[in-house]
Amino acid sequence: MKKVRIGLAGLGTVGSGVMRLIRANSGVIEQKTGLQLEVSAILDLDFSGKEALIPPTCVATTSMEEFEDTEQDITVELIGGTNVARKVIEGALAAGRGVVTANKALLAEQGQELFSLANGQKLRYEAAVAGAIPVVQSLQSSLTQNNIIKIDGILNGTSNYILTRMFEERLSYEEILPEAQRLGYAEADAGFDVDGIDAAHKLALLANLAYSSYVPFASIFVQGIRDIKVIDIEMADRLGYMIKPLGIAKIVDGHIEVRVHPTMIPKSHPLSTIRLENNGVFYDTDYSGEGSLTGKGAGSLPTGSAVVADIIQLGLQNTNPLPFTTEQKYSIAEAQHIQSRFYLRVMTQDRPGVLAKISGILGDHDISLASVMQLESNTEIVPLTMVSHKANEQSMMDALMQVKKIPEISAEEVVLLHIEE
Ligand code: NDP
Ligand code: HSE
Repeated sequence: MKKVRIGLAGLGTVGSGVMRLIRANSGVIEQKTGLQLEVSAILDLDFSGKEALIPPTCVATTSMEEFEDTEQDITVELIGGTNVARKVIEGALAAGRGVVTANKALLAEQGQELFSLANGQKLRYEAAVAGAIPVVQSLQSSLTQNNIIKIDGILNGTSNYILTRMFEERLSYEEILPEAQRLGYAEADAGFDVDGIDAAHKLALLANLAYSSYVPFASIFVQGIRDIKVIDIEMADRLGYMIKPLGIAKIVDGHIEVRVHPTMIPKSHPLSTIRLENNGVFYDTDYSGEGSLTGKGAGSLPTGSAVVADIIQLGLQNTNPLPFTTEQKYSIAEAQHIQSRFYLRVMTQDRPGVLAKISGILGDHDISLASVMQLESNTEIVPLTMVSHKANEQSMMDALMQVKKIPEISAEEVVLLHIEE
């Protein structure tokens, strides 16, 4: 039996999941791996109400110095954010310890420096991408021998939870977000979830592994879900689509296309069945073909489980997976390189000629409409929705700026969604 001493920084939602799993499943872990996991130190701001989670011989401290002075083979960073978390990781790497983190924000934004420090060896982050789904380890091992043609992923549990309930119960975004927060799915700042930032952090990490190229987080096109209303969900439904929060990565004409946006996908698409806080990663490869990995994308126990998976890999000395790449091999595809079908909703005064103005602007930008819908209504302001044929993204952005200037249209309430077939 090999003892592995763990220092846990951050006893919050995920940290408590790690503690619960280690306590409940130490027998099965020992039996399968020969590893005896012992949490020797915990760092947190406040332990009140958390006493039952602390093992009797463990040092529980609010002092970073005291935490760092304890005996640890592996440090687990579950504080979140980019300041204290970075110090914890740097300190652990400098001390030669293995590090496990779920902190996608830190890795996506400062991964170049941190992975250089770790020298690709001892910094593991399965829980940072898609919670319990073993997508990082799959890209680091089982799929390495393939060219990845495309990744489509539902990478944010909170956004998927909100859009699922909007679709199934026709509730508004504002009604559902507090519930996602209560359930422990959302980030400390839920704006990271609903504005697509969290999914973009994860996509930067996934695309790095899939294409062995550094993907600067700031270069990812990001659109969140805040503007989506029940009317958009209903329109998508009528057209045979669902709206899902997708992260997309693929190589097109030598550029890497990396985008996060709510996307209309056909109800027959494999990702349309991924409900609530579940995540799904759908991939296409040259030799293994298409496949998908699905499961819990957020929450205390599922994420804690992914953290413990990494602890075990480090404990077993499996320290040399496919590394994070710090060199940028591919330039990022800009909007002028991207073709997509689009859904457009405007709120307009119900007057003659508005549709002609919009279609004229779209036509001037070489955008052809596949369908137009206006539901009959007695109100003065009505929703007008359009679906385009494939069009250039830059042309659509340019056209949209002009559409917003049409006097009958409310410029603040224009919704543009990508459609993936
Ligand atoms: P929580 O806020 O629930 O937990 C963070 C813990 O760290 C809290 O106990 C907090 O104390 C403590 N903490 C904050 N600042 C300090 C500090 N300076 N020193 C010591 N302890 C500190 O966050 P989560 O557990 O939800 O998330 C942790 C990480 O895991 C984040 O990087 C997140 O992005 C990631 N993650 C989260 C998932 C989820 O489902 N929740 C899923 C996948 C990844 P206090 O509560 O007193 O502030
Ligand atoms: N806030 C994140 C989500 C947690 O909702 O997906 C998991 O990374």
